[in-house]
Amino acid sequence: MRLKSLRLINFRNHAETTIQCCDKTNVFLGENGEGKTNILEAISYLCLTKSFFGSNDGTVLQIGKPSFELDGEIHSDSEISYHTRVLYSGNPKEKKFSINKSPVEKFSGVIGQFPIVILSPESGSVTFGMPADRRKFMDFVISQSSKLYLEDLIEYRRILKQRNKILLDAKLQRTDCSELLEPWDNGLVEHGALLMQRRWKFVQEFHPHIVKAHRLLSAETETPSLQYHPSVTVDSFEEQSGIREQFYNALQQARTEERRTGSTAIGPHKDELDFTINNIELRKFASQGQHKTFLVALKTAEFFYLRERCNETPILLLDDVFSELDSHRSKQLLELIHPLGQTFITATNKNLFPAKFDWTESNRKFFIHQGAVVYDEASNFIN
Ligand SMILES: Nc1ncnc2c1ncn2[C@@H]1O[C@H](COP(=O)(O)OP(=O)(O)OP(=O)(O)O)[C@@H](O)[C@H]1O
Ligand SMILES: [Mg+2]
Repeated sequence: MRLKSLRLINFRNHAETTIQCCDKTNVFLGENGEGKTNILEAISYLCLTKSFFGSNDGTVLQIGKPSFELDGEIHSDSEISYHTRVLYSGNPKEKKFSINKSPVEKFSGVIGQFPIVILSPESGSVTFGMPADRRKFMDFVISQSSKLYLEDLIEYRRILKQRNKILLDAKLQRTDCSELLEPWDNGLVEHGALLMQRRWKFVQEFHPHIVKAHRLLSAETETPSLQYHPSVTVDSFEEQSGIREQFYNALQQARTEERRTGSTAIGPHKDELDFTINNIELRKFASQGQHKTFLVALKTAEFFYLRERCNETPILLLDDVFSELDSHRSKQLLELIHPLGQTFITATNKNLFPAKFDWTESNRKFFIHQGAVVYDEASNFIN
């Protein structure tokens, strides 16, 4: 798919910004704090109904303004045109999302229709950070490729919250909560087993993509891999009934520990996903360069995976990723992403792009200053 144009009104520091995008590389250049990343965040709202940073709607609303509006024109791979619109207004303020003027009731239903892949400075935590960062990665990718997964995830989180509340209350009041937990145990196990099976499957499906992407970036001697370590020991992920039974039994055994801590001890919210290169754990032993290469490979693999699963070419958003790369690596990354699809890049350094970079109809640069596009070379190409 391609984003043909977008319009931001009272969104962060953009009072009114309209951008006509090109089909390949769109580059937003400007000094720090001018509003480049805010444009990518707006794209995330238009494709996923929300911010990829997890910012809430009240935070992205321009300070002092009563409402914000975003409009996007998206063309699918099969050239179907969609107008997506976000409106946050009213008293109390409420977010509305519409596609081709039809209001969308369930926002989660939009996830996956307009797939996006994001690489930003925050993405680094997926290889460096805690297990929660890798679960987030897994959930983000699988949710875009499976509506059922997202529904189970939302339901699992709701049940987990309730269950944790019961456990915590019982701990503080020193009471027995076994009977209260019973119905929540069943829900936790039912949705949790579905999440575990889907995560296990995802790791199998994702593997060839990460190997392929890593090959594009590094020597053949380095073989990347992903391993799924569920917090519940499961003999086989083939059958739902087996996973449910083992999860349920493990949950009963964990009861004493849960009473002590006042929280749910096991389940998909405690799963781990390990990344390795040549069977060596990336998080603990990899060099900086290996981390960076793995991260770019992971994002490229995410792109290939989503394109296959969603039957739609994702949009790539690269926020400030070139600042850390030398010119050779920048060039390599640009060459890698160029054939993939439409890309939106933010950068502070305009000299980053190779002198011979083809600034033609398919690659466009914009200069952003104080929340506005001050130069758009759509009608005036310069090198
Ligand atoms: N709700 C808001 N209302 C008005 N301005 C906001 C709001 N939220 C953020 N801003 C402003 O937006 C600007 C930051 O924009 P953004 O993060 O897009 O910058 P950037 O161009 O990506 O900068 P950098 O190169 O440092 O990453 C800041 O000036 C900030 O004060
Ligand atoms: Mg930024």
